[in-house]
Amino acid sequence: MSAQNSVQPVIGVIGGSGLYEIEGLQNKEWRVCETPWGTPSDALLFGTLEGVQCVFLPRHGRGHPLPPSRLNYRANIDALKRAGVTDILSLSAVGSLKEELAPGTFVIVDQFIDQTQGRPRTFFEEGCVAHVSMAEPVSARLGKALADAAEEEGIKVSRGGTYVVIEGPQFSTRAESELYRSWNGAVIGMTNMPEARLAREAEMNYATVAMVTDYDCWHDSHGDVTVDMVVAAMKENTRKAAALVRRAIPRLGKERPLDKAERALDNAIITPPDARR
Ligand code: ADE
Repeated sequence: MSAQNSVQPVIGVIGGSGLYEIEGLQNKEWRVCETPWGTPSDALLFGTLEGVQCVFLPRHGRGHPLPPSRLNYRANIDALKRAGVTDILSLSAVGSLKEELAPGTFVIVDQFIDQTQGRPRTFFEEGCVAHVSMAEPVSARLGKALADAAEEEGIKVSRGGTYVVIEGPQFSTRAESELYRSWNGAVIGMTNMPEARLAREAEMNYATVAMVTDYDCWHDSHGDVTVDMVVAAMKENTRKAAALVRRAIPRLGKERPLDKAERALDNAIITPPDARR
């Protein structure tokens, strides 16, 4: 592999509610970062796991002070990019939109439906216009590594599925929940967009472990989702997620050829070089 076409991966982990560290991380150091887009949700935790360089970011900040709509997604993704991250593993608590995806199931999603409103969602706001492809928003290579690791940990895992991202912070109405089910949504959450879009613009690979905590509000024999329900389910989900990440990272750390997402801008910029500002 020539140096130009290969990368030495650095694994970024964006932890959702409840996950505030990477288990077994060595040479740990929290570093405060600033970006031109502002301040990320928290300092970044740098370290190594079996020799693989890792960078962890708690999405909502340690202690969970930040709601989904107020996260600075651009600062989060840019901080990870500047830290050298090549591959992002995103962890999120979600509700289930399908009977067979019971609480405790981990869904390795492969598509998103973005219902968020008004969140800054691009790095290319002015001066240089780019249209990256979002047809395949998730890295199949990362998704497979996560699903394999989950299976090996004895976690009930579903390979593929569509994550409906709502603005929140309120949960959905029953009519909305039924609508998303009719769209063939698998899970529902509040955080993976614009995260996945921005990762693509930053030419980083992205995959999500969506950890089911509840049946939202559509299920006849399960109560409507509450925070207590989510928090109770997350206790067990977090233990499993930590083991999954601990298992997946070492096998993602070997030098490898560049992925398609790492060339996302090659054919995306429409503004000619002499017109960029
Ligand atoms: N996070 C966990 N459960 C959820 C739900 N039902 N809707 C939106 N976000 C969630």
